[in-house]
Amino acid sequence: MKTVKFGIIGAGLMGREFASACARWCHLTEIQARPVLVALCDKNPDIHPWYRNNFPSITQFTDDYRQLLANPEVEAVYCAVPHNLHEQFYCDIIRAGKHLLGEKPFGIDKQANDAIMACIAAHPDQIVRCSSEFPFYPPMQRIGHLLEEDFFGQIIEVNSGFLHSSDLNPMKPINWKRMIEFNGEYGCMGDLGMHACHFPFRAGYIPRTVRAVLSKFVTQRPGKDGQMVPCKTWDNATLLCDCEDPLHGAVFPLVIKTQRIAPGETDTWYFEVKGMKGCAKWSSKNPRRLEIMDYRGGDQAMQQIDMGYETAFKTITGGIFEFGFTDSILQMWASFITEITEGKPKGRFVSCVTPEEAALSHRLFTAALASWKNGTVEKV
Ligand SMILES: NC(=O)c1ccc[n+]([C@@H]2O[C@H](COP(=O)([O-])OP(=O)(O)OC[C@H]3O[C@@H](n4cnc5c(N)ncnc54)[C@H](O)[C@@H]3O)[C@@H](O)[C@H]2O)c1
Repeated sequence: MKTVKFGIIGAGLMGREFASACARWCHLTEIQARPVLVALCDKNPDIHPWYRNNFPSITQFTDDYRQLLANPEVEAVYCAVPHNLHEQFYCDIIRAGKHLLGEKPFGIDKQANDAIMACIAAHPDQIVRCSSEFPFYPPMQRIGHLLEEDFFGQIIEVNSGFLHSSDLNPMKPINWKRMIEFNGEYGCMGDLGMHACHFPFRAGYIPRTVRAVLSKFVTQRPGKDGQMVPCKTWDNATLLCDCEDPLHGAVFPLVIKTQRIAPGETDTWYFEVKGMKGCAKWSSKNPRRLEIMDYRGGDQAMQQIDMGYETAFKTITGGIFEFGFTDSILQMWASFITEITEGKPKGRFVSCVTPEEAALSHRLFTAALASWKNGTVEKV
């Protein structure tokens, strides 16, 4: 089996998810390559021991990402750091000749994303992708196949969103994801938006214009010492976009919601497509349930299908068992490793976000900020 030697830069919440996926790579049965962790960088030394205790293959621990990039053993990097660092870190990783899976939003704002895109264009030999795991859920994979078959016919409407609820508690302490200097002006769109955009963009639903409604409900939160400090980021965003159906030509609405204050929605990612011949709906709230309507002139009946472990990359798990978040992370990583070792993804809906899709999300979020500020419909 081929190996790809990885360094992690930013070893927090998401760094650990990648490391854990590496540790259970044996779960995958047909893949021809595997990642091996060899280097780790995080400026917080308290994070290092978990990796030291669980990953004997890591021989370099550092708090300086430049030292990791100077390590000739490192072939590829997973970078999961706060958004204000994306531009500098991603560009330096690419210039150092490493493949990169970078976290969303792929730059704190459009200017940062433009710089990352220019760097990618100057280094075409490396594989650079952005993380997004939800399309790897089996019902979403099924919807991908249906899109490829033109099951839905003329598209009537598409809804895609990512909803969180813990910010409903006004006493939840502030963290970097609620601070403009680290998270960016996009607020909830920068943090949650790429997840809601990945699948529609891949389906070819490209927003032409956007009218946005952005909301700030909680304007201060407890800081480190318990004192209230300003919380300036957008809590919720609803984007009404118009798209041209790439197969049938007519224009339809695409509604993208990213909300941090969506009561009762712990971590809900959803996608819904309504067409003249068929409809489909899925939400991570009920992750195995796929709803489908196949309309050929008879009854308009929505079927509910409880899907099992029907994954793009085969695994040891039995077909009737449930699929979850950590499985989607493993599938996403299988896809990225496949792109590195085979030069192309396994399928149109079996691949990570491309830099071009991330750049499109920046155009959309930047237009959304202008739309809300000016009360206008903005071109994307
Ligand atoms: N794909 C997903 O589902 C998903 C989920 C959550 C977050 N994210 C994204 O992942 C990225 C990181 O988010 P997180 O939730 O893991 O955050 P986190 O705060 O848990 O981890 C970030 C890590 O970066 C480290 N760091 C900060 N500055 C550094 C520096 N100068 N050098 C080295 N390390 C540094 C921090 O010490 C921390 O451990 C963000 O881009 C975020 O949007 C993606």
